[in-house]
Amino acid sequence: MPMDIGLTDAQRESSVEALRKLLGETYALYAKTHGYHWNVTGPSFNSLHAMFMTQYTELWAALDEIAERIRALGHFAPGSPGEMMDLATIKPDNGIPDAQDMIGNLAKGHEAVSRAAKEGIKVAEANGDAVTVDLMTQRATIAEKTAWMLRASI
Ligand SMILES: [Fe+2]
Repeated sequence: MPMDIGLTDAQRESSVEALRKLLGETYALYAKTHGYHWNVTGPSFNSLHAMFMTQYTELWAALDEIAERIRALGHFAPGSPGEMMDLATIKPDNGIPDAQDMIGNLAKGHEAVSRAAKEGIKVAEANGDAVTVDLMTQRATIAEKTAWMLRASI
């Protein structure tokens, strides 16, 4: 059935491209944060283990929101971890970083998510796609708040 939500095919496709990039960064950061939750060591173990769990739980929920926005725009979401990792600039680590490096890597990751969201806001605004602008704005807000909390922990 054809869809008409007031956006052209090209506008929907362009918003979806921006959402795919945000999904990729969010997935890569989710996976990194969950791995750090498992592997963090040191005197701050308890607080970092718990903080990383709060963060990966929030990122996991965000993946669902972003992927379902892609579906609502009439496109399929990336169907595998490999496809999402290919869309991300955030790359896995070699080995296990120490706790301070973990915090720094995650702060940089949230900054990358914020940049992807803000690029997406520009694209979605140009498309007249206010719903995607709203989602991207929420993602940038949370990413920047989380980056602050991480930076404040170093
Ligand atoms: Fe756990």
